[in-house]
Amino acid sequence: MAQASSATRRILVLNGPNLGQLEFRPADVYGTQSWTEIAAQISEQAQRLQLTVSFAQADGEGELIGILQRARASQDAVVINPGGLSHTSVALRDAIEAFSKPVIEVHLSNVGAREPFRHPAITGGAASGVISGFGAFGYRLALVAVAELLAAQRA
Ligand code: DQA
Repeated sequence: MAQASSATRRILVLNGPNLGQLEFRPADVYGTQSWTEIAAQISEQAQRLQLTVSFAQADGEGELIGILQRARASQDAVVINPGGLSHTSVALRDAIEAFSKPVIEVHLSNVGAREPFRHPAITGGAASGVISGFGAFGYRLALVAVAELLAAQRA
């Protein structure tokens, strides 16, 4: 009898404030790709890795926290770019910690090489790992990291 294939793992890609407005942000920092183009590349990568990916974006801290709280029941991991909240939000950090499953934080830009106010890694300190400075490719790298972490859980 054929073995039932193991369920696909579900990954939420969650963007924070101003990441829904990439086309109006400095292209030398954030690149020239629209989020629609980036999301299509992420979806292709997810397919290759046999992950099921969904997307969300919110500009508000409370909204992001609510999305993360609800995601705990339905998602196996989260890839998050908290935008400017990365450097300020203890509440979002606490929500990442409470998610209790793999969370990879992504930054399009290399935040460590930018203004000092972007150096505090408040939310990143609660993530499984942080990928910063690879542009949109960072989201695809994050999916590879997620696939590895989930596979290690199963081993
Ligand atoms: C960002 C870096 C943050 O400092 C900034 O506020 C953003 C985007 C990035 O992807 O490089 O909104 O998270």
